[in-house]
Amino acid sequence: MESLACLNGELMPVDEARIPIWDRGFLFGDAVYEVMRIYQGRCWLEEAHLGRLQRSLASMEFPAVDLTELVDRTNRTIDASGVLEGTAYLHITRGVAPRAHAFPDSSVPPTELIVIRNYDDAQPARNRESGVATLSHPDLRWKRCDVKSTNLLANVMAHEVAHRAGCFEAILVGQDGLVTEATHSSVLWVRDGRLEGTPEGNGILPGTTRQFLIKAAGAAGLPFADAQLSLDDLKQADEVLLVGTTIEVFPVIRIDDAPIGGGQPGSVTRRLQTIFREAVERWLAPQPV
Ligand SMILES: Cc1ncc(COP(=O)(O)O)c(C=O)c1O
Repeated sequence: MESLACLNGELMPVDEARIPIWDRGFLFGDAVYEVMRIYQGRCWLEEAHLGRLQRSLASMEFPAVDLTELVDRTNRTIDASGVLEGTAYLHITRGVAPRAHAFPDSSVPPTELIVIRNYDDAQPARNRESGVATLSHPDLRWKRCDVKSTNLLANVMAHEVAHRAGCFEAILVGQDGLVTEATHSSVLWVRDGRLEGTPEGNGILPGTTRQFLIKAAGAAGLPFADAQLSLDDLKQADEVLLVGTTIEVFPVIRIDDAPIGGGQPGSVTRRLQTIFREAVERWLAPQPV
């Protein structure tokens, strides 16, 4: 099977899943979500994703969701789908109620959608090898980018500009002239052998891949430091990379017209790719009893 949905606890083919027009996710984008990578039928960094989902829900004052049951439903959907290499999309909205800005009555249950899909890693694998071109774009998003909300219009618009220019991603630059992140991935860079990135806060999504890599790189003797860079300074960095759940680690070889690292993936990025891959392999390896 290529994909399978679980809508409010009920397994169904994706094409048969239906959301009522009064769903607040549809009307207001009143919803939060997560995307996990499934390797060999198991969700990578599951705890980190669920922790972030819980923070997103709490920040937006959603009713509490039982995460253990959500994990159970996710795993049941993965098993029923038969997907081994894929993604798990979790989407929770504030539920269905006639359109009004005020939150619905507390008796209104959230809408919960889980979609399990196959993921074809062939093109991403090529991008990991060759590196990708990017375009800079103003960061026009709201001021709570730490919440993984489905309100992605500013991300979509910026990404489309990059896409039409033949680029993989748009690197977003805030009103203060400082780089934040990309439309659906985190941006890291290397200067003088040190891994750096924009500090966590309201301006960026706390990326699970970014957090994982920062920790793993530190353990491998590659320290990380928070830094705030203008676009011009980023273009002068020794290496720039994009990291995220499905892409893992992509070298950036161009921003606008500026080649990065001479237009070739750099050695620290290569090391981070190896660190990431080896960690996944270790996690997948059968545990000795
Ligand atoms: C805006 C943004 N930043 C960063 C990321 C990377 O986060 P993660 O590593 O948890 O996939 C994403 C992923 O969708 C994103 O949408």
